[in-house]
Amino acid sequence: MRAVDLIEKKVQNGELTTEEIAFLIHGFLDGTVPDYQMAALQMAIVFNGMTDREATDLTMQMMHSGEIVDLSDLKGVKVDKHSTGGVGDTTTLVVAPLVAACGGTVAKMSGRGLGHTGGTLDKLESIPGTQTEIPMDRFRRIVDNIGVAVIGQSGDLDPADKKMYALRDVTATVRSIPLIAASIMSKKLAAGADAIVLDVKVGNGAFMRTQKEGETLANLMVEIGNRVGRRVIAVITDMNQPLGLAVGNALEVKEAVELLSGKIPEGDPLYEICMLLGTKMLRLSNLAESDADARKQLQDALQSGAGLKKLQQMITAQGGDASYLCMERIDGLLRVREQVPVYPEREGYLYAIDTERVGTAAQMLGAGRATKADRIDPAVGLVMKKRVGAYVKKDEPLCILYSNDPEKTKVSMQAFREAITISDECPEHRSMVYNVIGDTN
Ligand code: URA
Ligand code: CA
Repeated sequence: MRAVDLIEKKVQNGELTTEEIAFLIHGFLDGTVPDYQMAALQMAIVFNGMTDREATDLTMQMMHSGEIVDLSDLKGVKVDKHSTGGVGDTTTLVVAPLVAACGGTVAKMSGRGLGHTGGTLDKLESIPGTQTEIPMDRFRRIVDNIGVAVIGQSGDLDPADKKMYALRDVTATVRSIPLIAASIMSKKLAAGADAIVLDVKVGNGAFMRTQKEGETLANLMVEIGNRVGRRVIAVITDMNQPLGLAVGNALEVKEAVELLSGKIPEGDPLYEICMLLGTKMLRLSNLAESDADARKQLQDALQSGAGLKKLQQMITAQGGDASYLCMERIDGLLRVREQVPVYPEREGYLYAIDTERVGTAAQMLGAGRATKADRIDPAVGLVMKKRVGAYVKKDEPLCILYSNDPEKTKVSMQAFREAITISDECPEHRSMVYNVIGDTN
C-alpha cells in the first residue's frame, strides 16, 4: 500500500477500506506517513467527506492508538458528558456533582480552553490547590469513594488525535464533520465510559454554525458510539449567546456555586441545560424511570444542597480548598484590580451577541489563552448583565469586566462593544434546545 494512492482515492471521492484507514493511521504515528501526506488526506476529507463506516473505522484506529482506560471494575454505569465547546458553558461543574449526588458514577476527562472557548480544567484550577493531573489509580479511588472526579486527559490517551489535531489547527482542516466526530469520539471511547451525553453547540459561539450541521455531527457521533456498544445521547443546543452569564474561570465557578446553592431560578438557560444534560445522564445510568423522574431527582439534590456538597467533596479529594465553594466565601476567588461596567452606546433591544467575540473579550483580559503557552489569570473575565431580547437603557450596564490590567480592560471593552448589536426591533425568540438525538429508552 502507498499513502499517495490512498490520498488520490479520497481526492476522487472514493471510499477507503478498514485496512487502508489502519495503514494511514499507523503510518502517521510511526512516521512512515509524513505530516504533509496526512495534511493532504485531511484536506481531501474536508472536501469529500467520509461514509459513516469510514468515520467509525477512523475513530477506532484513533481510539486504539494509545492507552484505553478500563473502568469496568468500578460499580455502576460510568457516565461521561462532553460539550463541543462554547462560551460561558459551566455545565460540567454543576452537572457532574449533581448526577453523582443522585447516585451516578461520573468519571470525566476534560480539556482546557483554547481561543475563545473555556475549558473545565482551567475553571477547576482557579480553586486554589485543585489538581487535574491525577494518576489513574487515584482517579479511580476518588470516583469509587465519592462518585465523581474530573481530571485532564492522560498523556497516553489517543496520541493519533493529538498529532492529527495539531496538523488540522494549522492547515484549516478543523471544520470537517467526520474529522470532528472521530476526534471527539475516539477520546471519549478511550476514556472508558459506558454511556456518553454529548452537548453539540450550534451558533455564532460554536464550531457548528447551523442546526443542520449540528444534527449531522450529532447523528454521526451517536452512530459511532452505538456501533461499539456504548449508549450515547446528543442534545443540540443554542450558542448564539453565552450560556451562563459569567465568562471567566473563577467567575464561572461562582456561577456554578450559585446554581448549586439554589440562587439561579428554573427557566434560566444555564439551569435548564444543566437539567437536560443531567436528566439524560441519569437515564443512561438506569437511575431514572422517566425524564420527569430524573429532573425531580436533580432538583431535590440541588435544593437539599447535596449537589454542592458533592462538588466540595470532589474538590477536596482533588487537593483543592473547598472552603471557597459557598456563597459566603466564593468572592475570595474574585479579587481583581478593577470592575468596570460597559454601557450600551444607545437605548434599545439587545438584538444579537457575537458570542465568539465575547469569548475573545474575556480572553483578552487573561481568562483564556491565545496560544497553548499563555498563562491564565483565574480571577478575570466578564459577567453579562443582559441577555438577548432585553430592552437596555443607556445607564444600565451590559456587562461588568473583571480586570487586573487597565490596558487590557480597554482592548477588551472595545471587543465587547463590537460584539453587541442594539436595535429598535425586538429579536425573535430562539429556543435553547434544538433537538435530542439517540437512545432515550
Ligand atoms: N473538539 C475536539 O476534541 N476535536 C475537534 O475536532 C473539534 C472539537
Ligand atoms: Ca462524498
